[in-house]
Amino acid sequence: MIAHFPNEMTTKWKMDQTGKIKERIAKARAITVLTGAGISADSGIPTFRGEVGLWRNFRAEDLATPGAFARNPRLVWEWYDWRRGIIASKSPNAGHQALVEMEKRCPRFTLITQNVDGFHALAGNRNIVELHGNIWKVRCTQCGQVSVNRDVPIQILPYCKPASGGCGGLLRPHIVWFGEALDSRDIEKSMAALQSCDLMLVIGTSGVVWPAASFAEVAKSSGAYVVEVNLDPSAHSIVVDEVLLGRASEALPRLLS
Ligand code: OAD
Repeated sequence: MIAHFPNEMTTKWKMDQTGKIKERIAKARAITVLTGAGISADSGIPTFRGEVGLWRNFRAEDLATPGAFARNPRLVWEWYDWRRGIIASKSPNAGHQALVEMEKRCPRFTLITQNVDGFHALAGNRNIVELHGNIWKVRCTQCGQVSVNRDVPIQILPYCKPASGGCGGLLRPHIVWFGEALDSRDIEKSMAALQSCDLMLVIGTSGVVWPAASFAEVAKSSGAYVVEVNLDPSAHSIVVDEVLLGRASEALPRLLS
């Protein structure tokens, strides 16, 4: 079922739908949430697809693959430094805050995010799987050590500091690039949460990047009720039980009110 938020004609149905989902949230013993770039869009962080998405103006092949980094690490770092600057100047919005409240109310709550901005942790969520990594973490290409680096701008190129016990190797963003495998522990934790939840929310993701694109189906086939919150219908919309069309920063607080 699909309902549009701002449409007056569907006001009654919209309220019915909202009420139904609110009840599901209140009764759920285990909620698993999957978020994508759409939840941070209202904070002013660009999404990837759509008319003003990052992949409209940049080629992922040049910036977000191991090959791109091997060819031109400076260019890749400059792009991530630009994105770090944008994220550092923004903050989590009411949609992120609503998920913090949801975690407080629900006995078992897992938040799987494809976002690398770190906003869910900043907002206050605890049980988070950062499926695609975190833009504030760096990883040494030589020794593999992962560390937090919040410098804006970051030194380009950054190296694993020998003065702090590092090996001197070149650092890369701790982000899963196209063509790379996800951390198997993140997949295991996600699968366990998807297969054991009674309610799943899919928020602000286009549903075209695997394996996250399959998560709604995993939860549904394991018996969960699945609700999508998105500005527009997505690849998930035919799989889920309810599609709530609207901005995450408006729709999510309403579901918790
Ligand atoms: P996309 O940019 O593909 O999709 C963003 C989704 O958010 C779309 O479905 C929009 O309709 C929706 N949206 C936009 N604004 C919204 C709002 N205010 N409220 C609710 N929904 C809104 O982003 P992702 O699906 O997250 O991977 O992309 C998945 C992955 O592809 C990213 O993690 C990234 C990218 O390449 C890596 O960088 C590894």
